[in-house]
Amino acid sequence: MNNFLLIHDFLKKYKKLFVNELFIPPKVFVKQEPRSNSGAKYELKKYENLICNCQECHLSEIRKNFVFGTGDPNADIVFIGEAPGAEEDSKGLPFTGKAGKLLNKILSAINMNRHEGVFILNVLKCRTPDNRDPLPSEIEKCMPYLQKQINIINPKLIVALGKVAGKTLIKEDMPLKNMRGITFDYCGKPLRVTYHPAALLRNQNLKRLAWDDFQWIKEYMNELNG
Ligand code: URA
Repeated sequence: MNNFLLIHDFLKKYKKLFVNELFIPPKVFVKQEPRSNSGAKYELKKYENLICNCQECHLSEIRKNFVFGTGDPNADIVFIGEAPGAEEDSKGLPFTGKAGKLLNKILSAINMNRHEGVFILNVLKCRTPDNRDPLPSEIEKCMPYLQKQINIINPKLIVALGKVAGKTLIKEDMPLKNMRGITFDYCGKPLRVTYHPAALLRNQNLKRLAWDDFQWIKEYMNELNG
């Protein structure tokens, strides 16, 4: 029995003693919902607040924004790029520049969008100078963040976009064409690697291959969700 009911019953019992002086409210009270702090949305926000002022490496000195990631906290699929570019650094959101626009189009072609069932992350949360490749030391500092984000979101499929994300997650350096078409294991989760949208903008010939990869992703997700 909760405290309200105990007090209510106690007062009722002694009502006769007080008669007019005592007002006993009716047994109407608001049911208290248990606070849900276990939801992925809450956990992600809490985690973002915890890490968004990161100063683990020198990239923190030149960033405009820490780019945590965006999307559906309960996503079934997570796409992982390399690092924010200039536009992402300015806006604080991943894949908002030209490559991001192409990613949106690709997602739409497989009936997905970045707000529902999808989360978009990067290996690095901060822009590198002139968009150079991330240094191993930067990746090492940032990886625990990505790992924790994946743990919270708990997706059914991880897709690495491009060679940097691919080799970081599979922990092996090989040509991107050799990473494609294989389902790797990343901490117990299936991981596929495909071309980075920026590579597709540079080389139109890769679009056909990327299309095959995204068709595979679409079919895999459709099968999983019945
Ligand atoms: N390229 C990436 O890898 N990530 C972004 O967020 C933008 C461009």
